[in-house]
Amino acid sequence: MSGFWYGGDYNPEQWPAEVWREDVQLMNRAGVNLASVGIFSWARIEPREGEFDFDWLDEVLDLLHAGGVSVDLATATASPPPWLALKHPEMLPVTAEGVTLWSGSRQAYCPSSPVYRRYAARLVTAIVERYADHPALVLWHVNNEYGCHVSHCYCDASAAAFRSWLEEKYGTIERLNEAWGTAFWSQHYAGFDEILPPRSAPTFKNPTQVLDFDRFSSDELLACFRAEAEIIRSRSSIPITTNFMGFFKAADYWAWAQEVDIVSDDSYPDPADPLSPAYAAMQRDLMRSLGGGKPWLLMEQSPGAVNWRERNAAKLPGQMRAWSYQCVARGADGILFFQWRQAVAGAEKFHAGMVPHGGTDTRIFREVEQLGAELRAPSGTDALLGQPVTAQVGIVFDWDSWWAIEQPASPTKVQYVHEVFSWYLGAAAAGVTVDFVQATGDLTPYRTVIVPSLFVASDEQLAALDAYAAGGGALVVGHLTGILDKDLHARTGGYLGALRETLGVRVEEFAPPAAPDLAAVGAGRAPALHVRGDVVGGDGTASEWGEYVVVDSAEVEATFVGGALDGHPAVTRHARGSGEAWYVATRLDQVPLTAFLDRVLTAAGVDRLPQVPGVEFVRRGDVLVAINHSDETVVLDQQGTDLLTGEPTAGRLEAQGVALIAEG
Ligand code: GLA
Repeated sequence: MSGFWYGGDYNPEQWPAEVWREDVQLMNRAGVNLASVGIFSWARIEPREGEFDFDWLDEVLDLLHAGGVSVDLATATASPPPWLALKHPEMLPVTAEGVTLWSGSRQAYCPSSPVYRRYAARLVTAIVERYADHPALVLWHVNNEYGCHVSHCYCDASAAAFRSWLEEKYGTIERLNEAWGTAFWSQHYAGFDEILPPRSAPTFKNPTQVLDFDRFSSDELLACFRAEAEIIRSRSSIPITTNFMGFFKAADYWAWAQEVDIVSDDSYPDPADPLSPAYAAMQRDLMRSLGGGKPWLLMEQSPGAVNWRERNAAKLPGQMRAWSYQCVARGADGILFFQWRQAVAGAEKFHAGMVPHGGTDTRIFREVEQLGAELRAPSGTDALLGQPVTAQVGIVFDWDSWWAIEQPASPTKVQYVHEVFSWYLGAAAAGVTVDFVQATGDLTPYRTVIVPSLFVASDEQLAALDAYAAGGGALVVGHLTGILDKDLHARTGGYLGALRETLGVRVEEFAPPAAPDLAAVGAGRAPALHVRGDVVGGDGTASEWGEYVVVDSAEVEATFVGGALDGHPAVTRHARGSGEAWYVATRLDQVPLTAFLDRVLTAAGVDRLPQVPGVEFVRRGDVLVAINHSDETVVLDQQGTDLLTGEPTAGRLEAQGVALIAEG
């Protein structure tokens, strides 16, 4: 590829053919070089069973090609046509409550349905045969946002597939009974044929059954992807992607990322939420990390407001551009939108498009044109293309822990991604870029590894973290780590498993502060916990979590102050091999957390980025990118050439402004 990809979802079937010609002209005007075509075209391609109509799609692809626009061609399996559901209602998805989800919307299929998979395979085969050699084709787009609406299906076909999956995993029913702890509440199974998906039940369901069903459901969706990818690969060597959805709970993207040729992501931060830039940055870093540092594609973002929030905020002038550069700075080699032309009919007509209802004489189209011109400029942004983003800090992210920690009947209500985000914000405030990692992945590039609430941890994961510290790393372990093993059995003797040795502590008892709704009866809010210690910058506050930690051989670096936990350890440090291992027994608020990370990162020799309030800095290749997310002009003293202007850096950056600084 010679430049950044730029474009969006293109749904020509929603428009008469005259509009297609205008589309190509406008795409040229906007600098568009890639269109994602056919994502929801099944009913148009196969209007009746076995009757394929490709004439219209031939014309669209030829027009795009003649206009110099490449194609990311979809397999069109994301929304089965009504005739299929009418003929085979057994392929429709069913909720845990037993409600069937019918046609008339999209994604109305059970991922385990052999019928769905058979019809999908036939469609994909026909599309691949027809277009594998089309000169416009540069990327295959399998399905769309797997699991977005239907991630778990509880129908009888799913039950049968779940049983096979369990049999494969456990081999014998005795092993399953042991893993699921079915001695509890009379849940014992005599054979695999007695097992059902965790359908609606009177009260708490078996936690291991639920976790296995989460694992199974991610695997089933991935099996759908794999089946389509195999058909494509048998006939075509063009790269394959499917669009991820950032921190999406239902799909373990570590496994998925192994199967795609290029990671692509859909991202819709809320312009009305002041934390959106930071959360979006975290999402970009996950995408880069999933691909092992390789460039990724922003497959979808909105050029303006979306249509699916209660209140759909418009993007501020310049915000779409600023957020696009955030992606580029954090490793993206393409910026695409949902969608090219704003629809006039259907459920997404109030979702912004690159060509909005107002036409081309609009702010949205002008901003689309400006960004397209910048990304296609012969010099400037290309200094970033294909370049790596180097991080010296890793944060462990783990889908099993996410699934398990959010189950009911847990020590406290936790939102796993919020735990991770609080550490991410701390790292960002301390001026570092992070990668996301797996505990058993390669941790050697990192001077510091942070482990937020790795609630479910295998012996291998714990051993890998120990080896990291012993080998000279600075390991930071957050609360609610190592509580359960992979079968969700409690790790006894002080939780933490083998990390007890690493950290020199054990956890005797959980003691979270009162939940906000109880506290509201009295003081009006959840009481903060107070912590004290040089390592947290003196006196600080914490929230959400407290516990009784017993020190075996660690140093206590901060203690809880006041309340029942008064004097008990809140932060500990332990020398381990040639490294050190920290334990944090609470969720520190942002100020003490940043002070703490500052201490750890300085000792570990981690390089820092400049820090200016409201400004995001990140380095890609040799370029320092500065993005002003605040609503005021800020002063910047970084010297160099701004690649966007070709001039020396201005010393200031306006609201939503971006500078690509070649230093020196
Ligand atoms: C998702 C889908 C698109 C569209 C957008 C709207 O990302 O993939 O088809 O529905 O949401 O925001």
